[in-house]
Amino acid sequence: METIIFHPEKDTNAIAEAAAILRRGGLLGIPTETVYGLGADGLNEDAVRRIFEAKGRPQDNPLILHVPDAGWLERCCVDVPETAYALAEKFWPGPLTMILPRRDCVPLRTTGGLDTVGVRCPDHPVTRAIIQAAGVPVAAPSGNTSGRPSPTCARHMMEDMMGKIDGIVDGGDCAVGVESTIIDLTVQPPRLLRPGGLPLEELEAVLGTVAVDKAVRQKLADGEKAKAPGMKYRHYAPRAAVTVVTGTPGRSARWIRAHLPEKAGVICFDEYAPLFAGHIVHRLGAADDKLAQAQHVFDALRTFDDTDVEAIFAQCPDESGLGLAVSNRLKKAAGFHTVDVSPLVIGFTGPTGAGKTCALRALERLGGLVLDCDAVYHELLRTDEALRGAIAGAFGDVFAEDGSLDRQKLGTVVFGDPAALETLNAIIYDRLPRELRRRMDGSDAPVVGIDAINLIESGLCGMCRRTVAVTAPPEVRVRRIMARDHIPEDYARLRVQAQKDEKFYRTHCTDVLVNDCADAAAFEQRAYRALETILKEEQA
Ligand code: TXA
Ligand code: MG
Repeated sequence: METIIFHPEKDTNAIAEAAAILRRGGLLGIPTETVYGLGADGLNEDAVRRIFEAKGRPQDNPLILHVPDAGWLERCCVDVPETAYALAEKFWPGPLTMILPRRDCVPLRTTGGLDTVGVRCPDHPVTRAIIQAAGVPVAAPSGNTSGRPSPTCARHMMEDMMGKIDGIVDGGDCAVGVESTIIDLTVQPPRLLRPGGLPLEELEAVLGTVAVDKAVRQKLADGEKAKAPGMKYRHYAPRAAVTVVTGTPGRSARWIRAHLPEKAGVICFDEYAPLFAGHIVHRLGAADDKLAQAQHVFDALRTFDDTDVEAIFAQCPDESGLGLAVSNRLKKAAGFHTVDVSPLVIGFTGPTGAGKTCALRALERLGGLVLDCDAVYHELLRTDEALRGAIAGAFGDVFAEDGSLDRQKLGTVVFGDPAALETLNAIIYDRLPRELRRRMDGSDAPVVGIDAINLIESGLCGMCRRTVAVTAPPEVRVRRIMARDHIPEDYARLRVQAQKDEKFYRTHCTDVLVNDCADAAAFEQRAYRALETILKEEQA
């Protein structure tokens, strides 16, 4: 079969001719903002059958219907809920597919035998014009041969479909690069079946709670049923075996470099490409540019097939925003073969005089990296212009001539004024976590201790998998701080009374270490054993 390539920006008849192919039951490669689709008249059983043949797609894997606007929902679906219109109003045209009850005119062949149908309005002016001109909802799976990475440019589409279909419309590179987000609106709460070009967070902002289907993050067991039939198939897979490395970018890059076999290829963030000189490298985009990563992920997976690499190692973004879709595509390409190089993060807190320092020493002996939040904060006060600016903006000039913070000046403003103290804390805890993450990323320690007096109150506990409180009976602490800080008993007692009691720590922390040992060495040994147990529990 001869495949006609249409160039709608040059050829004014392209849209009408492409629409005519759809009307007469032919197959047409169409550009969308997500990926290229392999389109046909979704109400014509014969045309739909040919889609499955051209892709080599299993018959039970349903197709998505593409419509030019929300007004077409009633033509394809029944019992359309208000939420569907609310989502369409906010996100269409765009990378969102809604699963709704099927209207009888939609053949079961299109829906893979299901009583529901997926509908979406693509954000590509040429394709919407073609669908409008054809006058039928267009069934279109991604235009790849079944199992291969989805096409994100006309060249990919030609690679897979040249000679097999009637035409391909060249609409340029896809702006999003990963397929649409699929939300099932026939269940309560609505369920995310496939992460895609519309971030989960944006759906949650409209729908409230959204359930995330298990198949999004892990491989289904044999015989387990996928809610989106397409999620059960091995997908996007290059010929070479893929290993996905999760964890912050510096850590995953260093891990790959240390474990890279000779004939292996790498998919990495731009910043880390120089680490892999001598290997075939495909860049995803900058580590913090998830849109670029989405745009490049399929091309990266695809082009390895033209090489002789025997294994592929890929860096993986975190799951926020478009990261969930990018990481899902990489993990599917890897058959969910992943290595997580994130450290175990343990928070340490407790009242003064209890022995936190001994516990942190024990953690270091176990190979841990300790991050002292107080010290990090004071370093940021000297070096972080954004933090200094925010403090100056809120409290005036509280910095001394030499640039250091005038603690007394700031202290007189914030202590005794709860609102001012809250403002200061908000500024600090906006900057501190990212600095802590930066330091964790710079280290390969398998476990990190975050040392913070106000671990719980500050919310820093949210970064921690476990939270360890070190406490001791008040009388013991009074004696210890008298000896340590050379202060009179009355004053020591006041300091101890001003602090949170043991009940607070028992309520808020995952683990409590009570220091009633005779000396520091004995307690350090007790802490060592307790931490060893925690590490074992977390490895299991
Ligand atoms: O961005 C996209 O959605 C692209 C472009 C071309 O629009 N299309 C696309 O189609 O990705 P496809 O066929 O490659 O993926 C459709 C996915 C499959 O996993 C399929 O199982 C699921 O949607 N799906 C379709 N209809 C469904 C239904 N009624 N219930 C559950 N899952 C459905
Ligand atoms: Mg597909």
